[in-house]
Amino acid sequence: MKNSNREIIKIKVNGTWAEYEIGRDVEPSETLSHLLRERLGLTGVKLACDQGACGACTVILNGKAVLSCMMLAVEADECEVMTIEGLEADDSVVKAFAEQCEPGYGTAMQCGYCTPGFVMTAKAMLNENPKPTREEIEYGLSGNICRCGCYPAITKAVQNAAEGTREDK
Ligand code: FES
Ligand code: FES
Repeated sequence: MKNSNREIIKIKVNGTWAEYEIGRDVEPSETLSHLLRERLGLTGVKLACDQGACGACTVILNGKAVLSCMMLAVEADECEVMTIEGLEADDSVVKAFAEQCEPGYGTAMQCGYCTPGFVMTAKAMLNENPKPTREEIEYGLSGNICRCGCYPAITKAVQNAAEGTREDK
């Protein structure tokens, strides 16, 4: 958006629109992950590889899961972005991850570093396909890496969120 000599972008983050002047509030070469983490303090957006290989930085942009380290903040002009901070406190996927401890599967969160990326990927997937099969869940999460190897429990947590089989339901 041009505004006299200033170039302004407008992004809705976790429900609130804000304007950013290019060169002042955001650099032309700045990634979306940098804007979210370093300027807006949304440190639930994790950075691990910073090159599109691990999924830790996943956010939802206009309903789709995207790698925020792989796009420029200016590319999000006029877009709606949601980070894990934007989810409800009782979000079903977050709860499913937190409660996952079934024998044979273990915890979905050992160190927790990968968790926000998995949760946002799962949210976008379940919004499109509320009742995925186990294979569809595994495929949908295949771009996210968990260095602690909690894959069986992560898949189970997403399955539980989808099926509503958690104990509180
Ligand atoms: S930090 Fe973005 S994909 Fe790894
Ligand atoms: S729980 Fe440690 S990286 Fe996934």
